[in-house]
Amino acid sequence: MHKLAQLDRRYVWHPFTQMRDWLRREPILIVAGQGAVLRDTHGREYLDANASVWTNLHGHNHPKINAAIRGQLKKIAHSSALGLANEPASLLAQKLVEAANQLNAERGTRNAEFPAGVPLAPPHSAFRTPHLNKVFFSDNGSTAMEVALKLAYEFARRTGRGQKPKFLSLAGAYHGDTVGAVSLGHIDLFHKAYAGLLFKSDKVMSPYCYRCPFNRAKPERADARDYRRCNWECVGKVETKFAAQKKRGNPYAAMVVEPLIQGAAGMIPQPAGWLRRVAEIVRGNGAQLIADEVMTGFGRTGIPSTINDQPSTSLFACHQEGIQPDFLCLAKGLSGGYVPMAATLTTQEVFDAFLGEYEEFKTFFHGHSYTANQLGTAAALASLQILQGPASVRARQLLEHTLREELKTVWSSPNVGDIRQVGLMVGVELVRDWRTREAFGLRERAGTRVCEAMARRGVLTRPVGNVVVLMPPYCTTPVQVRRIVEALRDALREVFGKFPRARNRASGPRTLA
Ligand SMILES: Cc1ncc(COP(=O)(O)O)c(C=O)c1O
Repeated sequence: MHKLAQLDRRYVWHPFTQMRDWLRREPILIVAGQGAVLRDTHGREYLDANASVWTNLHGHNHPKINAAIRGQLKKIAHSSALGLANEPASLLAQKLVEAANQLNAERGTRNAEFPAGVPLAPPHSAFRTPHLNKVFFSDNGSTAMEVALKLAYEFARRTGRGQKPKFLSLAGAYHGDTVGAVSLGHIDLFHKAYAGLLFKSDKVMSPYCYRCPFNRAKPERADARDYRRCNWECVGKVETKFAAQKKRGNPYAAMVVEPLIQGAAGMIPQPAGWLRRVAEIVRGNGAQLIADEVMTGFGRTGIPSTINDQPSTSLFACHQEGIQPDFLCLAKGLSGGYVPMAATLTTQEVFDAFLGEYEEFKTFFHGHSYTANQLGTAAALASLQILQGPASVRARQLLEHTLREELKTVWSSPNVGDIRQVGLMVGVELVRDWRTREAFGLRERAGTRVCEAMARRGVLTRPVGNVVVLMPPYCTTPVQVRRIVEALRDALREVFGKFPRARNRASGPRTLA
């Protein structure tokens, strides 16, 4: 065993990892990365098929981000945001505000009317498009959520919406691992043990078409959203929740959603129109909308050619449904996957609720030592610049298309129940038999076994339960995508047995680069 691996096994405690399993074998220990390829201590190469847990955007060792960090390092690595401003943080805040308000800019108006032609869930209400012009920096996705939660809580109290503001989030939600973020989460396996530490938040069914009890469609070899038969009961449930909470005299302060797709819940995509309808209900009830775009932000949900029939290059998932949240929470891809870095964007209205004379103590008493760190903000500025360039747009379009085409070959496995692609993200749900949708028990570790078999074929990703996640960096080439999907097919055969070969397009060169 490599001596670094020995040190790891002796001293390091890994996140979300049963360490007894970990200690049974030599870990893959990464020493270098280039583009979509990671290299380990033994010189073996792997494709980074989940972008290092959904963080990396443009590939590893990107010359422009490297240069931005090196350039910043020559000046200063870090000074505190408590009492001091700094150069890249000021510049980044401006760029984030511009990007976050692209929807408003494209509409050419604030407080635009709800787009015509979309059937709305009653009650109808003015469809606000809040202007997000304040940026609170922090360190990771959990802290971005924690900041939104505390701001929304206190905003609701200070504006008279109730002394004990309540929050609504989706079944299966995951918003991070700090105590506030865990309180918004609804994954028993992760969260139940800490119930005594948490505040209570409500949950409502998520629009999980593949396993929706209201979907009357028989299984087909297609994304369940495309052949579902329902009456939007999931939206009705949101309405009922809001109505019931209002009746109790304590209307919800905010609803928290991952727009377009829930990640750690199991890569659960929302059918088109769900977010619009839900936002309408949230706003109709005077509540705020908190968009957790920790995973979905920065182009992961694909390139919308139009939003509300207007051409668009928005980087955020909620804009694809024409929705502007009151809080936009960003992390993971913010620094291109280089440095821990997060931001919570919100409105002037929320900001103003914290203004006052010093002795009124209306200050937002929250912050972290590394808030607005210069290396992180410099990396983020470079990453945004790359994202907004035409080469990145082309690469993302190609990646989305190639993934879609290649994944068609995976349907021939009887153990694939659903393949859900949203832009550059994919969840492949494994089942005992696609005709019955029968799920594997968690103890069978179906997702883990498939991912381990993929790793033996030089492709790294992690499952979410029985769902294999593919989310490669944007620089991943068509040949590399073919290698990823080929590894998935071969892993399915190794774990579950042979299945008919569909059109096999994995005929490119064997090299990973
Ligand atoms: C949607 C979402 N929100 C929040 C988080 C928490 O982010 P972090 O792990 O950076 O704390 C995650 C992490 O996976 C996430 O997927």
